[in-house]
Amino acid sequence: MSERWYKEAVIYCIEVDTYQDSNGDGCGDLPGLISRLDYLARLGVTCLWLNPIHPSPKRDGGYDISDYYGVHPQLGTLGDFVELATQARSRGIRLVLDLVVNHTSDQHPWFQSARSDPNSPYRDFYVWTEDEPPDRRQGMVFPGEQTETWTMDDAAKLWYYHRFYEFQPDLNWSNPAVRAEIKKVMGFWLQLGASGFRIDAAPFVIEQTTPGVNPGPMDFTILDDWRQDIQWRNGEAVLLCEANVAPEDLPKYCAAALDGPNDRAHLMFAFGLNAKLWLALARCEAEPLVEALGSMPKLAAMAQWATFLRNHDELDLSKLTDEQRSDVMAAFAPKQDMRIYGRGIRRRLASMMNGDRARIELAYALQFSMPGTPVLRYGEEIGMGEQLALPGRLSVRTPMQWDDSRAAGFSTAPVAELIRPVSTRGAYSAKRVNVEAQQLDRQSLLRWFEELIRVLRECPEIGVGEVSVIDRPLPRSVLAHRFDAPEGAILLLHNLAATPVTLDLSGIDTGKRPHEVLADGRYEPPAKNLAHLELNGWGYRWIRLRRSSKV
Ligand code: BGC
Repeated sequence: MSERWYKEAVIYCIEVDTYQDSNGDGCGDLPGLISRLDYLARLGVTCLWLNPIHPSPKRDGGYDISDYYGVHPQLGTLGDFVELATQARSRGIRLVLDLVVNHTSDQHPWFQSARSDPNSPYRDFYVWTEDEPPDRRQGMVFPGEQTETWTMDDAAKLWYYHRFYEFQPDLNWSNPAVRAEIKKVMGFWLQLGASGFRIDAAPFVIEQTTPGVNPGPMDFTILDDWRQDIQWRNGEAVLLCEANVAPEDLPKYCAAALDGPNDRAHLMFAFGLNAKLWLALARCEAEPLVEALGSMPKLAAMAQWATFLRNHDELDLSKLTDEQRSDVMAAFAPKQDMRIYGRGIRRRLASMMNGDRARIELAYALQFSMPGTPVLRYGEEIGMGEQLALPGRLSVRTPMQWDDSRAAGFSTAPVAELIRPVSTRGAYSAKRVNVEAQQLDRQSLLRWFEELIRVLRECPEIGVGEVSVIDRPLPRSVLAHRFDAPEGAILLLHNLAATPVTLDLSGIDTGKRPHEVLADGRYEPPAKNLAHLELNGWGYRWIRLRRSSKV
C-alpha cells in the first residue's frame, strides 16, 4: 500500500440491525458484528460503513436520529462501539459512520424543545416560517410516501421545513450553534475510533432554505469547515459525500477552488456512473460506459470516486432519460412492485441477474474495474435476493444469511420476533444462499468475491491511476479500458453480452510480458502483442501490462 488509505480501500456497507444478533432479541447488534469481523477480514474488506447506529424511532431505517451522542440500545453501548473500532482496527479494518445531519427525528429533544418554547435555545436549530409557503408541495424526495416539504406544527403554530419525511425536521444550517454542535458530534465519534463519515443527503445540508426559493443558494463553507476540523482532530479521517447532483456540481464538493487542492470531501459516490453501469448491463452494450468514463467530471487531485452497484436505498435511475430508464426497468424490474418512487428499483443485484452467476460476476468485475473505491452492500457477496413483500426500501434490508437454519444464523430469537423476516422461500432463501455453504464450496460466489478483492488490492492503479478507454473499433458489447499509474498499468476487458468474441488489441502500449490476474475462466495466456484475445459471453479478463518494482 502506497497511497492514502481511502484510495485503495474496499468499503462494505452494513446495517447493524440486520447483520448479526448476539443476545437473542431478534435485532442485530455491535457485539454480533464484532463476532463477524474475522469473516469480514477474510473477505478482504478494509472499511465498514455502518448505516446509522444511534438512538432513533426508526421510522426511516435509523435515518431519523434522536441522539447523536449515543448508540441505539438494541444495538449495544458506546463501550461496544469502542470495542468494535479496536477489534476492527486490529484486523486492518476502519469504520465510517453515517452522519445524518440534514435533519433530526421529530423526537429529538432539540426539536421537542424548539417546538414547545419560543425562547428555547433550540428554536433556531430548525427552519420555521409563519405563513404557508407557496412551494410547500414541492421538492419531495419520496413521492408517494411524502406529500409536502413544509408542515404546520401544532405546538409551535409555525410551518417547519422537512426535505424528507414530516418526522424529519431539517436542521437550520445557517445557525452557527448548529454548526458548532455537529462539529462536536463528529469529534466525539472520531475520538471513539471512527475514521470518517458518510455525509447523508449532502446537497440538502448545504442548501439554504427559504420559503418560495427553489433551489436555495448553496453554502459550501459547511464542508470547508468540516474538513478543516476533522483533519485537525484525526489526520486520516475522511468525508464521503452522498450527492446525486449534476456532474458539473460534483467537483465543488471536493474543492473550494476550481483546480484547487482537495480541501472538502475526500470521496464522492459515483451516482452518474452507477446509472450508466446499469444502463450498459441492461442493453448489453459498452457505449453508456464509454460515454460515462469519458465525461466524468475531474475531481480535485487526492479526491476519489466511490463506486457501487446496489446500496440500501432504491437503485436510483432518475438521472437517465425516460427511454434509458425504461430499458433498465424492462430488463431488471419487469413487475410494478419491483419499482419505487417512479425512478428506482427495490431489488438486489443477484435476483436482477436472475441468479445467473456469469452475469453477477461480470457486473461486479465491471464495478471493481471502474475508477474509484468500490463499495459493496452486505449480502451481495453471497448473492442474496430481496423480499418484495416488505414495504418500500425494506425489501433490500433483510437479515444476513449466515446458514440454512430457520433464522439463517442471524439470531436465536423465534422467527416471529426477528426485526425483519429472513428469506425462507425461493431461489434466494437462506436454505439455498448462505455463508456457511459458500465457505465450504471453493467455487462459490463468496470465494469468488474473496479472490476479486484480493486481486483488486494487488492492482492499486485501479484506485489511483489514470483511466482511458481503448480507442479502436470493438464489438458493441465489449468495454476495453486501462489504468496507468506509477505503480503499474492494467488492461481490463469485459463482455456485456452472451456471445463470445475475439479481440485484436495489437499495437496498444503493453509491458514486457502481459499476464492475466483475473478472468471468468481459463484462457490462452495473452500474447505479448495482445493479438487474438478470446472473451467468453459475459466474460472478463484483467491483464496486467506493467508493474513498477519500485513500489
Ligand atoms: C439515505 C436514505 C434516507 C435519507 C434521509 C438518504 O440519502 O440514504 O436511506 O432515507 O437520506 O435521511
